[in-house]
Amino acid sequence: MIIPEETIENIRESNDIVDVISEYVALNKKGKSYVGLCPFHKEKTPSFSVSQDKQIFHCFGCGEGGNVITFMMKYHNIDFIEAVRRLADRANIIIPENNGGFDKEKMDLKKKLFKVTREAAVYFYRNLRSNHEGLAYLNKRGIGPDIIRKFGLGFANQGWNDLIDYLKTKGYDEQTIEKAGLVIKKDGGGYYDRFRNRVMFPIFDVRNRIIGFGGRVLDDSKPKYLNSPETLIFNKGFNLYGLNLAAKQQSGRKMIIVEGYMDAIALHQFGINNAVASLGTALTKEQARLLKRYCDEVIICYDADTAGQAATLRGLDILSAAGCKVKILNIPKGKDPDEYVRAEGPDAFRRCYDNAEPLIDYKIRRKSQGFDVSTTEGKIGFVKSCVEVLNSVEDPVTVDAYIKKLANETGISASALYEEMARFKKNGQNTFEKHISGKTRYNNNIDGQKLYLEPAYLKAEKSILSMLYEDSSLFEKIARSIGWDDFNDGVYREIAHIMYEKLKNKENIIPGSVISIFQNPDDMKKAAAIFERTVSVKENDIDKVINDFVNIINKSKLMKRKDFLVSKMKTFEKKGDVEQSVKLLKELGNIEKQLKTL
Ligand code: GTP
Ligand code: MN
Repeated sequence: MIIPEETIENIRESNDIVDVISEYVALNKKGKSYVGLCPFHKEKTPSFSVSQDKQIFHCFGCGEGGNVITFMMKYHNIDFIEAVRRLADRANIIIPENNGGFDKEKMDLKKKLFKVTREAAVYFYRNLRSNHEGLAYLNKRGIGPDIIRKFGLGFANQGWNDLIDYLKTKGYDEQTIEKAGLVIKKDGGGYYDRFRNRVMFPIFDVRNRIIGFGGRVLDDSKPKYLNSPETLIFNKGFNLYGLNLAAKQQSGRKMIIVEGYMDAIALHQFGINNAVASLGTALTKEQARLLKRYCDEVIICYDADTAGQAATLRGLDILSAAGCKVKILNIPKGKDPDEYVRAEGPDAFRRCYDNAEPLIDYKIRRKSQGFDVSTTEGKIGFVKSCVEVLNSVEDPVTVDAYIKKLANETGISASALYEEMARFKKNGQNTFEKHISGKTRYNNNIDGQKLYLEPAYLKAEKSILSMLYEDSSLFEKIARSIGWDDFNDGVYREIAHIMYEKLKNKENIIPGSVISIFQNPDDMKKAAAIFERTVSVKENDIDKVINDFVNIINKSKLMKRKDFLVSKMKTFEKKGDVEQSVKLLKELGNIEKQLKTL
């Protein structure tokens, strides 16, 4: 999807950054800016600043920054296009569909598949209305017309060709129907319906498109559920059943994850509208990221035996890593949520919900089950496994709280527990991972502060741009000694280009607008930083300072050219191309001369 530049700018302008951020962060006016607690790092005193004039935000604590689009990207963990789309929604702006050249074939096929799944769902839905068996089954399970409508439930008839024949009369070809996962190819040629004699659960994506189906038998035969295969539009690991409905319920930014279709439906039926179902697979990173857009806390409500499985626990760690607070809801008496809420009512369920156990407690409790803490040996074993759990926790405040609790419960001193943690870290740490994470490349020290020095030319380029923004009367002077295309750094060069254009035409520079030319949050952050810096220079020194910066930039440019020429010359020499080599030598001489004057 390519959104035209003017549309992006229109959307950005229609979403004042202070208004938008206020929806997520409590801001107070302070001088020319608004300040609040940074949502991107933990802090007690506000260093997060939002400027209405500049239409940018910047955190003086962690360095995050950007315009309103960057904020949405970072806050919701979404990409540029999605952020723009949401801001467009917020401002009631319609984004013109423009798929020019963007894998058009695939887009067209997807559209076709969405159409055929919709057609099938409508057909199933109509079938159900006249199918006594299907209606009786749902009725027996406590599902009436309202819920049937809300979830678009349907029925797949008995025959082998029922759906395919119907869809063909509607003008769909067999290949498309197969690609949507609705029919299966026969060995001898031809197709037959995948879903037969089943209650059908259409699966919607967040944009309310039907991506696949689940079908349940009416009795105890196997398989109990049949699901659509993976298709171009259906990827199990990327979606959650019921999210289209739950996403609209933003109250409290909490979600409940259950295992089955029937569980999610039952909870919605009883007013617990933030339930989604994972459909019998372990949670993936993509699902976690998807969920993180709509909630900060996830309550997992699985069967006791599924919840404890390694795959599930890994899924929960993935959710934590995505930034969600994770809790485990235990349902008494081994019931599933559907059975429980129907038997005991929504209030009983809400009580369980309120008592959900934080993931760390849950893990610790499970670990402790094997140990008899009344013996010294058992106590040591218990503590060791707790330490193992705590070592995977990143937030030091949380770790501290648990250490204190653990010390209280076991009578082992907190300092001994910390020591045990340190020892575990030393022995158990995966150094390989640390190496590939790249964190050591720049010698991050313990505080995560970068120790490497920024090259001088970067500082010079950044400073010149900051000075230009602060004082546009410097433009002529600066432009005379350095062109926008002399900037070495790609991000700074693009910003220089825009600023030069605007200043030449005596136009205002709005930082929030300049930043929109980038779509990558790191570039946006780098761009925002320019407009939040002050280069303090005494009036009399300005010429000299500019001159120094320009020299540094030019020098760096010449050095880069020199390196390039030297390596090029080497290849010519290897090939024996003397003529070319001499040509380069001349340019090299020129560069050396220029370098000497700087
Ligand atoms: P019922 O209440 O018995 O209708 O089912 P449920 O919603 O409680 O589902 P259950 O807890 O038995 O299973 C959880 C989920 O796993 C289901 O919603 C299905 O998505 C999936 N599942 C269950 N049984 C099967 C099966 O036989 N095959 C496949 N592919 N998936 C299944
Ligand atoms: Mn069930």
